[in-house]
This record gives sequence, C-alpha cells and structure tokens, in this order.
Amino acid sequence: MKEFKRTLITSALPYANGPVHIGHLAGVYVPADIYARYLRMQGQDVLFIGGSDEHGVPITLKAKKEGVTPQDIVDKYHNIIKTAFEDFGISFDVYSRTTTETHKETASEFFKTLHEQGKFVEKTTEQYFDKEANQFLADRYIVGTCPKCNNDKAYGDQCESCGSSLNATDLINPKSVLSGSPLELKKTTHWYLPLDQYEDWLKEWILEGHKEWKSNVYGQCKSWLDGGLHPRAVTRDLDWGVPVPVEGAEGKVLYVWFDAPIGYISATKECTPEWEKYWKDEETKMVHFIGKDNIVFHCIIFPSMLKADGSYILPENVPSNEFLNLEGDKISTSRNWAVWLHEYLQDFPGKEDVLKYVLTANAPETKDNDFTWKDFQARNNNELVAVFGNFVNRAMVLTHKYYKGVVPAMGDLTDFDNEIIETLKTYRARIEKSIENYRFREALKEAMELARLGNKYLADSEPWKVVKTDEKRVETIMNICLQITANLTIAFEPFMPKTTAKLRGFLGVEAFEWSQLGDLDLIPAGHEVNKAELLFEKIEDKTIQAQVDKLLETKKANEIEQAEVTPAKENIQFDDFAKMDLRVGTITEATKVAKTKKLLKLTVDTGIDTRTVVSGIAEYYKPEDIIGKQVSILVNLAPKTLKGIESQGMILMAENADGTLSFVSPDAALKNGSEIR
Ligand code: MF3
Ligand code: ZN
Repeated sequence: MKEFKRTLITSALPYANGPVHIGHLAGVYVPADIYARYLRMQGQDVLFIGGSDEHGVPITLKAKKEGVTPQDIVDKYHNIIKTAFEDFGISFDVYSRTTTETHKETASEFFKTLHEQGKFVEKTTEQYFDKEANQFLADRYIVGTCPKCNNDKAYGDQCESCGSSLNATDLINPKSVLSGSPLELKKTTHWYLPLDQYEDWLKEWILEGHKEWKSNVYGQCKSWLDGGLHPRAVTRDLDWGVPVPVEGAEGKVLYVWFDAPIGYISATKECTPEWEKYWKDEETKMVHFIGKDNIVFHCIIFPSMLKADGSYILPENVPSNEFLNLEGDKISTSRNWAVWLHEYLQDFPGKEDVLKYVLTANAPETKDNDFTWKDFQARNNNELVAVFGNFVNRAMVLTHKYYKGVVPAMGDLTDFDNEIIETLKTYRARIEKSIENYRFREALKEAMELARLGNKYLADSEPWKVVKTDEKRVETIMNICLQITANLTIAFEPFMPKTTAKLRGFLGVEAFEWSQLGDLDLIPAGHEVNKAELLFEKIEDKTIQAQVDKLLETKKANEIEQAEVTPAKENIQFDDFAKMDLRVGTITEATKVAKTKKLLKLTVDTGIDTRTVVSGIAEYYKPEDIIGKQVSILVNLAPKTLKGIESQGMILMAENADGTLSFVSPDAALKNGSEIR
C-alpha cells in the first residue's frame, strides 16, 4: 500500500436550490465526517472540503418561477444548508460556495489553461432554442413525442415511459417546458473535452489500477468505459455561471459540472495558502465522498480534466454510496418526500447524533436502503438506550453508589477479566480496518459491540451481589467498567461526537487519542467522576406516529396534486341554471342516521322554512361540529326518501381529488334564505 503524508477529503457540493435532507447526510456528509474525524484523532494532516454548488439551469428556473434572481436563491439555500451542516457537527475545514470571486477566477483559469494548451475541441452544432424564453434549452427542458413508444411526455434526454435514452432532436413535435412554445434549431459553438482521447488512460488507471474501489463504483466506471466515451461539451449558452474566458464567447458560461468540482480546489485555496500541497503533491491522498449519481463526474470527467492539466493529483478513492429511500419511496425534493434536516432538528432537538447513528447503521453502502421511522425508533430504543446508554448509566450509578464517584483501584484480575480485556484490545484494529476500507456501518457495529461487551461484563460479574462478600473484587470490576466507558468515548468519537463529549463530561476527562483505544489506564484510580445524566432517552410511539402522519399528509397532498381533473361537461343555457333555487341556510341540528356509515340527518333553516335533509357527509364531519354552520342548499330539488327519512333538498359539497367532501359556504355570515346566483 502506498504511504501518504496527508489526506484531502472532498464531499459533493450540494446544489443550493433546496435544503438538505437525510439522503444527503447518509450518502455523503456523515461518512465523510466520520472519516475526517477518525484521521484527525490519529493526528493526521487532514483537510475536509465542502461547499454549495450554485450554478446550473435548475437554479435559474427556480429563480424565474419565484420572481427573484438566481443569486437570491443561492444566498438563501447556501445559508440554510450551511447552518444544517453546522448543527449536525459536520466538521468541514471550509464550507465555501461556487459564487465566490476565488472560485470564478480558479475555474476561469482552469479553463483558460486547457484552452491555451489546445485540450478542447470546438464544435458548432444545432441546438433547440426557445424564442419566447430567449434561450437555448437543456435537454431536460424539452418535451415531445417519443419516436419509439409515442409517449407524448418524453424528455429531450430520455423517455421515462419506455426508458430509451434520446437526443432532443429525436423527439417528434419538441416543445419548451418553460414556455410551452415550439422550438427552432439554431447554430451554436461550444468547447468539448474529448473524453474519447482519455479512454485508454482511464481504463488503465481505474480498471487496472483501482480494482480495490467499491464494486458499485468500479462497476459503473467499467460500464461507462466499455460503452465508449465521447467528447463532452463543457460550456453552455446561459447567463448564470462562470463566463467562458474566450473572446467572442459572450452569453456562454462553463457547464456546471465543469465548474463545480473545481470548487473543491477554490475552497482549498480559501482555506489555506498551502493549497497546492493538497492538490499537487503525490503524497496527498485525495478521497471524494459522493452519491451514486455523481460517479461518472468524479471518476471519469473530473479526473480527465485534472489529467488534461497535468499538474494535479488524482483521487485515490471515490467511496460512493447508493441511495437512501424513505419509507419505501425515492426521496424527492419536488414531491417534498424527505426528512429535512432543519425540520428534524425542530422535532428532535439535541438528537443530532441519534440520526447520525441510525443513518450510519443503515447506510446505503452497497445497495439502496430504506429509512423508516420504525427502524429509527427501534435503533434508538434497543441499541442506543438499551445497550450503550444502559451500560454507561449503570457504570456511573454504581461508581457513585459504592465509591461516591471516586474511581477505585484495579486489583488482581480473574480469567474472566483477562478475557474481556483481551477482547477489548482487539477493537482498535477492527474499527480501523473497517473505516480504512470505507465500511462505516461495519465500523459502527464494532463500536456498538464494545458497548455490548461492557454490558456483558457488568451483567456477568454481578458487582451488586459480590459487594456483599468481596469488596476488593468489586473495586476491580468497577475500575474495568469505567475503563470500558472511557474507551467508548474513543470508539464512538468519529460517529457521535456530541455524545462522546457529553460522556467525557460525565467522566470528567479530556479527549483521548485514537491510539489509546484499548488502554486500561484511561482513568486513574482516585479520579473523581461527575454526576451523570441519561445519555439517550427512549423515543415513544406517539412521537414516531407524528412523523409517520406527517409523511402520510405529504403522500395525500401529492396524490391530490397529481390527480387528473374530471373533464368539463357540455354547455348549458342560462335558463337551465336559473331553474335551480339555491339558497344560504344554517344547519340547526345534526344526527347520524342509524346503521349507515355515510349519512347524517340535518335540520336546515333555509330562511323559507325549516326542513330535513339527508346528506352523505358523515365520514368527513361530526354532527356536533357542524351545528350553526352556514351552507349552500338546493331547495327546489324533488324530495327523496333515504333510509326511511324524507330528504328535502340537497346541500352543496365540493369533492377533492381524494374523494373528501367540503361544504361550499359563503365567506361572510348572510341572512338565511339569501339567493345564490
Ligand atoms: N451538485 C451536485 C449534486 O448535488 C454535486 C456536485 S459535486 C462537485 O449532485 F464535484 F461538482 F462539486
Ligand atoms: Zn418512449
């Protein structure tokens, strides 16, 4: 294995067009943070880079929709995202953004250098232009009929109905998603990175040189490389981004996927004047933490850019994760199907580490995984509370009970003690091996096993019984328990730093180094520990149910949103309408109709008279809630007998897409009998 002097950790720059959710955390930022914290504990030279990705078409569209500037959008979300990361203790050495001057200069210079060295090819092609929006359109913003399956909602890059990948020019009747207007083809010139020229080198570098990469990453790279690479445009016709630094390129900017990864370099520059040491010295190990949709950019395109320049190092590893789903469905910002970090913090204040624990324990490292609130509760209650918290609590309570908080000395060891101590000593190597191979969930499992070991030791050595016969022995048992507790502050530090800080507070100790994991002299005899609180608290069913209900609400709202509106009916004449005698009335009595689920018997004061109406609204309204309510009533409808009751008229109800009914009521109190026209 190659020896390195320092590590540069990058984490994908999230788009600043929405807040971050648990999928971001689980896929990228938590693993990157664990890795950074672990290496720092080892005393290594580490730089952990983050920032917001603030260019790209979606940001411009969001701005347009909201009637603000793209800068307004990115300012807003950059701050929300940055705060969420701070709250969760993601320990970036710098969290920057791609709208800084440093970045614009850096990206611009990067392009210029390659341009001057003739590393790009220039091509003029015909692209679809939206005259009304006065802009060229990215493939995603073109819809038309799929030539393969006739689906009339196919996108310029893909038909989601038959799955075929398309070129915008394949579409029949292409239209703009922005304006809905037909498109025209217009010539435009762009700069392309000829990836085909890097194919052989990439094959050698990845397929031969990096067989150790995670199989999901290696596999995706192999399939791209086997499929053959083509030149990729690195510029776009757009007015939001880093201007193309070439004469005559007005109105063109660098493609967002060209400038964003250079953002890692810009952020490093902002962080340290020695940035070149991290980017240009072979003894730096660069690791990119990303989600699986970013693999091609970080394994093929960005490395080709770096290689084209020639003065930069390449990533040593790209430990990409798969996706985290939420309660069985793909997380989606537009459908609001997510657990947003800022909302989690409102609902579970102080429980940042609990979420980080669950997301790591269930991380989508090798396949897509599902986050469910039930699993969140179970892991909190059965693992954090019942194992880790329980052991720590008993160790602390007994130390106070037997020794008034003063750590007793370790005496003679039994075979059982030795066995436990030997096992304790194996954990450092086990956790190291897992973390160094980017297997964070395995590493966390090992840490939790150490807590289990403590629990087992305490349960099996039964100090509460031994205390009656052999006080010396109890001193040894409690000393060992406290040493295990102190070891837990080391083992859990990369994963749950707020928790371990709290635990060190209970113990009254400073932070340890990673190399001390396994030691039995972390807390000297005679040291006084502090009073302890509970490390974790149980999460109740009703708390979980509230979160599940919130998601059900979202699901319902989405279904309503997506439901088709029933088609319009045939036209009628005014006279047809005028035949109906519609009035405002007030419900004065309401009772359920016996043996039915849906019917209420209502008494309505119509202003003309007081009458009985049977209405099918019992699933949506409780009788006691609607007394006194003003409603719209059709008073000249021929009476009809329902369940033996004569219904005289009909209350007007509006039916939502999910079938729920609401009264159509005047929005001010009116005199009963007022006509509705
Ligand atoms: N913004 C991209 C995404 O969320 C990631 C950019 S990573 C970088 O998918 F390399 F470009 F910075
Ligand atoms: Zn199709």
